[in-house]
Amino acid sequence: MITLKSNHEIELMRRAGKITAAARAVAREMVKPGVTTHQIDKAVFEFIQSQGAVPSFLHYNGYPASVCVSVNDEIIHGIPGKRVLREGDIVSVDVGAYIDGVHGDCAGTYPCGKVSDEAMDLIRVTQESFFRGIRYAREGYRLSDISHAIQEYAESHGYSIVREYVGHGIGHRMHEPPEVPNYGKPGHGPRLLRGMTIAVEPMVNAGTASIIQMSDGWTVKTADGKNAAHYENTILITDGEPEILTDPEKSLV
Ligand code: MF3
Ligand code: CO
Repeated sequence: MITLKSNHEIELMRRAGKITAAARAVAREMVKPGVTTHQIDKAVFEFIQSQGAVPSFLHYNGYPASVCVSVNDEIIHGIPGKRVLREGDIVSVDVGAYIDGVHGDCAGTYPCGKVSDEAMDLIRVTQESFFRGIRYAREGYRLSDISHAIQEYAESHGYSIVREYVGHGIGHRMHEPPEVPNYGKPGHGPRLLRGMTIAVEPMVNAGTASIIQMSDGWTVKTADGKNAAHYENTILITDGEPEILTDPEKSLV
């Protein structure tokens, strides 16, 4: 069942969203040559705690960290550790924060120092595919209108959409109905109604859509070893434009 959030719940989600967006900004600032992925995790953990919130990912299904850090051909769910970031890497960070009974969830891919034009293009197209998708995140449209717009934009640039992982409803739980695929025909799925809160999160591969699952049980990589990018925000369906609850522009820091 897709829940519609009350005005009070929306207020709470705005706060969770602001903290989550700020945590992503903390991670983004740390994407520099010589920094370890563990250092990013530590900084994000400390930031979220300092806000009186709890990292949504820590211990979720046994996940051991507060943030996912996925480098180059790693698409999602990279576990922070000893890996040292190098000039030219592209680094996806994904973070969630839980406060007053609700979650925020957002991600982004950022360049480490100077990266290739090809890598920057992948990052840009992935971000833009999110914004193309949420043009349809309004009352009167159906869920797959968002999915279709994301797919169309990413594929028109020669990239591939990951199928095995999708966006999701979000609120009192990090993953609520509905699933929000980043591909599909328009005009299908539930009708969008004000008060729905969803995490829209295109995962885009530079090469083919095929993925491989690493033996750590979490990290997901591209099968062809080419780069991947990710961009996610938690959004609220309203009676007009969608409200981006994890808006980087409205972040606390
Ligand atoms: N943003 C991811 C998602 O929406 C985060 C989950 S990672 C996990 O599913 F570690 F918490 F599982
Ligand atoms: Co998510």
